[in-house]
Amino acid sequence: MKVLVLNGPNLNMLGIREPALYGKGTYNDLVEFIRNVAKELDLDVDIFQSNSEGALVTAIQNAYEQFDGIVINAAAYTHTSVAILDALKAVGLPTAEVHLTDINSREQFRKLSYVSMYAQKTVCGKGFDGYRECLNWLKETAN
Ligand code: DQA
Repeated sequence: MKVLVLNGPNLNMLGIREPALYGKGTYNDLVEFIRNVAKELDLDVDIFQSNSEGALVTAIQNAYEQFDGIVINAAAYTHTSVAILDALKAVGLPTAEVHLTDINSREQFRKLSYVSMYAQKTVCGKGFDGYRECLNWLKETAN
């Protein structure tokens, strides 16, 4: 089973950006964590990070008929991007949304998630473990 893991803007700054919120783990630590979980679950993963909305839309489009599911942390684009929502709808793959922090207990503007309007599963506020939960969910439901 092939899963595409997408990470949006500023997640490449993990470890540096607001460590009190996002923790001290770096983006490379997150990538290593995801790879280890994928190995445990016997999933084939591609991991892609971009600060650009268009690059994320293109990555979602390119997943069509190439992947069996998507795990996405669209970061700030979660709260703004109709384009990412439309791309997810267009390819129609099982999709799990993940956030390191609990977007529902932060600023008001983070409570709106366009990704949630398509994603069949959302995990937030569990740090790196949220990615594990999403990969596990995809394995259980989309296989
Ligand atoms: C985030 C939450 C978003 O609101 C924020 O813009 C991010 C990261 C998270 O993983 O907690 O960049 O998606």
